[in-house]
Amino acid sequence: PLIDRLFNAGENEVKLAKKLGIERTIIVPGNADLQDRVFEEMGEELNSALDLLLPLGHSIITVLGGAALAKAAKYLSSSLSNNRQLEFVPGRGALGENVATQSNTIVQEMAAKTNGSYKTLYLPEQVSEAAYKSLIREDTIADLLQDISQSDAVIHGIGLAQEMAQRRGYNSIKLSELREKHAVTECFGCFFDDKGKIVDRITQVGLQFENLKKIPHIFAFACGARKAEAIKAYMPNAPRQTWLITDEGASNKILKRK
Ligand code: F6P
Repeated sequence: PLIDRLFNAGENEVKLAKKLGIERTIIVPGNADLQDRVFEEMGEELNSALDLLLPLGHSIITVLGGAALAKAAKYLSSSLSNNRQLEFVPGRGALGENVATQSNTIVQEMAAKTNGSYKTLYLPEQVSEAAYKSLIREDTIADLLQDISQSDAVIHGIGLAQEMAQRRGYNSIKLSELREKHAVTECFGCFFDDKGKIVDRITQVGLQFENLKKIPHIFAFACGARKAEAIKAYMPNAPRQTWLITDEGASNKILKRK
């Protein structure tokens, strides 16, 4: 039934996809800011969308971190593994972040729920240029980067710029610099302003934003009215094949119908 629904987008889902310039949106009822059950429905929708789009056989899914994905990961199901060998890989190093919302933790949970396999990348989220250049030549890391570049799908969150900068321990000077540059959202280590321009960036080992467009299927996973501005700011940059999985809280605000 969920899978049938995926073929038939609702009116608001079509409007939202048009407005954001992406292939598809899936809107679940409710507002995640107030209702935790939204994450369950979003997780189930993600499961169905993956089932619809992932190729059969060996399938690599790159997962970025974040609180929303951490809450939804447990709703993936073992049926995804029918005729598939799923491999979940973290999209970037994440040490320094809360363990629960790290990509390393989320890939383990997703693999457990779907009977898939996973790899980990235990590296600091942010590294120096010099460390970056030598780390990407390490065999195990080069291997994982190869998997990332061959992913069938990427699943990522959309963060609020100030919140993400604080989580990363930016000092007050850096925080006010970001504010002056009107940074509203962060994805893939890039901070985007309200016009969708990259205004700051951290060096991280993993999926580079420039390479995202080569990935066949991309799932942006973000919900709650508080994320509306961030979603709107990021989306002009999103590759067209992106599917946004969100809730009414965010979508009504983007479509300006409170
Ligand atoms: O960590 C991956 C990520 O996609 C970040 O780039 C993004 O800012 C964050 O997730 C958002 O996650 P949440 O707001 O759900 O914690």
